[in-house]
This record gives sequence, structure tokens and C-alpha cells, in this order.
Amino acid sequence: MTTKSNMSSREMIDACMQHSLFSWSATAKVDPIPIARAQGIYLYGPEGQRWIDFNSQLMSVNIGHGHPKVVQAIQEQAATLAYAYPGMATEIRARLSLRLAELLPGDLNTFFYTLGGAEANENAIKAVRMFTGRHKILVRHRSYHGATNGAITLTGDPRRWPTEPGMPGVIRVMDPKPYEFSFGNTDEEIVANNLRYLEEIIQYEGPKNIAAMFIETVTGTNGILPPPKGYLKGLKALLEKHGILLVCDEVMCGWGRTGKLFAFEHGDIVPDICTMAKGLTSSYLPLGVMAVSDRIANHFRENVFWGGLTYNAHPLCMSCALAAINVIIDEKLVENSARMGEVMRGHMARLAAKHRCVKEHRNIGLFGCIELRKNSAGERLVPYAGSHPVMAKLGKFLRENGLFTVLQWSMVMCNPPLTIDEQQMAESFDIIDRGLALVDEVFEGVFEG
Ligand SMILES: Cc1ncc(COP(=O)(O)O)c(C=O)c1O
Repeated sequence: MTTKSNMSSREMIDACMQHSLFSWSATAKVDPIPIARAQGIYLYGPEGQRWIDFNSQLMSVNIGHGHPKVVQAIQEQAATLAYAYPGMATEIRARLSLRLAELLPGDLNTFFYTLGGAEANENAIKAVRMFTGRHKILVRHRSYHGATNGAITLTGDPRRWPTEPGMPGVIRVMDPKPYEFSFGNTDEEIVANNLRYLEEIIQYEGPKNIAAMFIETVTGTNGILPPPKGYLKGLKALLEKHGILLVCDEVMCGWGRTGKLFAFEHGDIVPDICTMAKGLTSSYLPLGVMAVSDRIANHFRENVFWGGLTYNAHPLCMSCALAAINVIIDEKLVENSARMGEVMRGHMARLAAKHRCVKEHRNIGLFGCIELRKNSAGERLVPYAGSHPVMAKLGKFLRENGLFTVLQWSMVMCNPPLTIDEQQMAESFDIIDRGLALVDEVFEGVFEG
């Protein structure tokens, strides 16, 4: 298929920059890639430029771009019933809910539909407060939960700072793996120490005041951090002891990204609530969902759930979700994520052995990053919330050589669509390999970010 575009790259970029705001950016400083179409793992520009999408856009296009089955499902639903108000029952709402109840583990059988991850978390905040009659919420510093008022207050990272103080009642605690500090050397030690610390916080805040703890099951933009072994089980037991609910935010790590359908399956737990978006529709259309356990669902059979959205249970978006989920299952993309995750680890290890700028690499399935260092003492290239000019240089190099990914602080994000194959993976790491040579050049340099 040829690239269809009525605008040149320049025209697109100029008009977008002149008349639209870009998220998390000063508009004059953005440097957007002009995209005309996308297929599989590739993005194409108006003049036929091609980039590998090595971040699945925002870690969200899990099935890759342009899947015909999803396009067809959306087209058919649009022609049949594009929208119905949230008080209606529709066939697509029934079908998607039945499918989700089938796929989600344990008794996560009931769903509230939103338009994205932040809204799913906003509604989870309401649900845990209404269900428990308690007010406070525990969250962790190395986290992102969305940009709306409540969700950005749950967020630990610096994107929260400009909109503080935000929503009252949020207590932020240290992660099992904080940025510059360690709770121990082995997973066992880390988990035991972190949970002992957390229980002390719970005592200080008064267990009877705490409704829930929200966690990203595997932390995403704050470092691709799988929990240490035993953490999820220990955390769930500790919270249960105090009648505190566990909300797993699987907006980024759900739907096969980690090599299991849901990341909490790695820890052999089922949370009380799970929030999802992104991979749910592979982002072809916006949809989020809050899944609740039977216990919570039963509460709201008798008690009003005080939440609503004009686009709650949007038929068009739900048709997209059902089709995208079926692609994940039918095309065995969870299995491919686990298998290709091992291939990715091999490439990362090779680059770590070759480049002195690599501090470490982490991945669980196709959720991964390479973290860079600035010296042999192992200091991160970029300090927390800081910057380093070589990262912009690296980004430019990757882009000019046909690879799009997100560079976050010292991290090169490695989150391709779950459809990626060996040859595409090798091609991607070849470009990253050449890019890292630029970072090696500034190793032991004195720049203060
Ligand atoms: C873990 C997590 N939760 C919530 C959100 C917010 O989702 P959305 O941008 O769809 O509102 C994100 C987005 O990146 C996320 O990564």
C-alpha cells in the first residue's frame, strides 16, 4: 500500500504546532514525527519515510497497526449502532462484558467502561471509597496513573508537581525498588523490609482510614520495574489483614505486554480491582475499564455507584476492544510476547556487554528498557527528573535511522508491538546498538543535568 496523504510532512507539522497543544510539552519545543499511516510494527511518513514503532506508540498498540479484523469490526459497529446512551443495554456491551468475565482471572467479573486509563482510575478511587467508607489511598512514588485530577495525585512522578496539591487523602510510600535506595540485597530481604515499612505507615495513618492501595503491577514509565519475587502475594496479604483493597493498574502492563495476559498473574494474586486501557483496544479507539470483584459488584447492586460519563460503554469503542482482544488470543500474542521477550533479553545483554554506557537492562515479556549510566561508578546518565543533551542526540539518531521509541530520563524504552518477529527485533537492536555509540562518547563526561 502506498502512503496516502494530502499534506507534506512540513504542512502537517506546521499546522499541528500552530493550532494544537501537545501534551507534557511547550508547543514551540516539540519536534513531532509526521505520520501518514501505519501497518504492523511500522509507521510511515507522507513522503514514504518508514520508522519501526519500538514503543507501540504509548506502549499501547499491542496487536500492531492496521489489523484488518479490528478495522472491520469498527466499521460494522459504526454502520449498526455507533452510540447509545449509558443507560441502554446493547449487544456489544453484553458481548464484551461476557468475554472480559471469561478472560479476567478470579472473580473480576463486572466492568465499568470509561474512555481511558485515567478515567478508569478516577472511577476506581470513587469505588474504593464508596465500598469501604474509608477515605485515604496509598500509592507509590515510582508511578504514573493518569493526568486527571485524582489520577495525577495518585501519580508519584514529577508530572504531578505542577498541579499540586491535587486531591486530598493520598499517602505516597516508597516502592520496593526506590530510585536511589535499597530495601535489601535479595528479593526476600527487599520484600520483607518494604512490607514492614509499609505496615508501619499503615499504623501511622490508621488502618481504618485507608480504603485502598493503587499499584502499577509492573511499573511502566518510571522504570519498567517488575515487582520483586513474593511482593505481590505479601502485599495482598498485608492489605487484606487491614481491610484495605488492592487496585492493580494494568493500563500499561496488561493485555499480554509482560508475557502473561495480566501482569498480576506473574505474582499469583487477583486484585480487588483492576484498571485497564491501552492494549484493551490496542488504542485503535479510546476505551478504559475498571474490573471489580464480585464482592464489590454486589455492593453496587444495592448501593448507587456515583459515577458516569457520556461515553460510558461506548458501542464503537467496545466493538474495537472485543476485536482487539480476540486478535491477542487467537494469534497467540501473549505467547509471542513471552517468547520474543527472551529474544529481546539476548539483544540487550549483547549491547550491555558491548557498550560501557549501559547501566542495566530489564524486561518482562515485551515490556523493557535499557538504562544508561554516565560513569564507571554506575551513576545514572540523567538524574531524577533531569536531562542530558546526549539523550536528544540519541533520539535524533534513532529517528534518522528509522526507529521511533521513547527516551525517558536515562532509559531507552523497548516496547514493540507483541507481533514483532526475530528479524524485526534484530533490525531494531542494530539501530539502537549504533545509537549507543554516541552515549559511549560522553562516558565519564562532566555534564551536570
Ligand atoms: C499505568 C498507567 N495508568 C494510567 C495511565 C493513564 O491512561 P490514559 O492516558 O489512557 O488516561 C497510563 C498512561 O500512560 C499508565 O501508563
